[in-house]
Amino acid sequence: MLAVLGQNSSMMTEMKSAQAGMTQAVPLLDLRRQYDGIRNEVLAAITRVCDSQGFILGPEVEALEREIAALTGASAAAGCASGTEALWLALVAAGVKPGDSVITTTFSFFASASAIVRAGATPVLMDVDSATLNLDAELVRRRIREKRPEKLSAILPVHLYGQCADMDAFAAIGEEFKVAIVEDAAQAIGAEWRGRGAGSMGATAAFSFYPTKNLSAYGDAGIVTTNDREMAERMKRLRNHGSPRRYYHEEFGWNGRMDAIQAAVLRVKLRHIENWNEARRRNAALYDRLFAESGLVSTPRLASEKHGRELSPHHAKNGRDGGPEPGPPGDAHVQLLAREANARHVFHQYVIRARRRDELREFLADRKIGTEIYYPLPLHLQPVFAYLGLKEGDLPVAEQAAREVLALPMFPELREEEIRRVVEGIADFYS
Ligand SMILES: Cc1ncc(COP(=O)(O)O)c(C=O)c1O
Repeated sequence: MLAVLGQNSSMMTEMKSAQAGMTQAVPLLDLRRQYDGIRNEVLAAITRVCDSQGFILGPEVEALEREIAALTGASAAAGCASGTEALWLALVAAGVKPGDSVITTTFSFFASASAIVRAGATPVLMDVDSATLNLDAELVRRRIREKRPEKLSAILPVHLYGQCADMDAFAAIGEEFKVAIVEDAAQAIGAEWRGRGAGSMGATAAFSFYPTKNLSAYGDAGIVTTNDREMAERMKRLRNHGSPRRYYHEEFGWNGRMDAIQAAVLRVKLRHIENWNEARRRNAALYDRLFAESGLVSTPRLASEKHGRELSPHHAKNGRDGGPEPGPPGDAHVQLLAREANARHVFHQYVIRARRRDELREFLADRKIGTEIYYPLPLHLQPVFAYLGLKEGDLPVAEQAAREVLALPMFPELREEEIRRVVEGIADFYS
């Protein structure tokens, strides 16, 4: 009898856990799984700072600066308070002055444009490439040739979702028109373009260590990189009230310093970033494969394909040998974003374009599958940028993307079975 009872109760437990499994959440991001793996290292690093009683800048920040410079391939870095602060430092150090214009993408986080305003300049918001959603270099080139914005001093491409913008094209544009290229690499730590690290290609570059980023702090933090040591020294002064030494001020800076505790946490995580980015790439490859097998998707043609350049390995493999056929936007329920052949993507986000996106999002939320929209309203339609004079219909590719993009769960510790559940959920919605 006892044995039978025991059997029944274990069956009950199994049934309960099977039921729970059916409704178990798939989070968009679960930082606790990362923390569980590094808890001891992180707490030891924080203790080290507390024991030192040095809380702002100092040796931890200097060590992080060296380590980030080495990772990106830049020759120097300056730690600061946030990615937003990093963008402002990067723009000012690259020579942007009040009254200038700076071209950037309309399809990014607000800070890409607000940092330009804070530098006293006017953002010139432009449309994106429909395949990658990165700033469209051809449009930028044409715009400068035909009607150069007044006092144009820089272009700020954003490496959106972890894939570098076309840095060959932007380098050539920078050269031709004598403007600085400043990288917004906030989402792209560890990403590459033709084997060169994000953050090492522009005059300066900005990274964010906001807690959701691939390399993230336990609070706000950011860093700027450059290959110009003088610019690096200037950024270090600017983040500290324009002060080369205490209580002497050469120009107006601000308090944009990095905390030592954040640097110490980041240095722990930096040891894992290669593995974590690799795990993100594996997760993305699994999503790609499952979407291809689902028959739901199309993959758009890259600008580089349209212009006759080489195909990405992703397309050569998936687009031509039995995977999703490249097709025009909107010919399938779901469209994957294109991968540039020259880019080593670090999948800060795995983003699809979906028909009936908002309904799909609700359907997935009912199944406890987390999603997010980056970004629901392009910058040129934000009320605060009304003064730029752009209106609905002016930048149509970004406007369309804003109606269709959906970021799916993506982080290194995401499990295969969770990715399967996400794709199955999407397939169920459209079936
Ligand atoms: C593209 C982009 N630029 C700039 C930032 C600003 O970074 P932070 O939030 O660290 O100020 C972010 C992050 O949110 C971002 O995604």
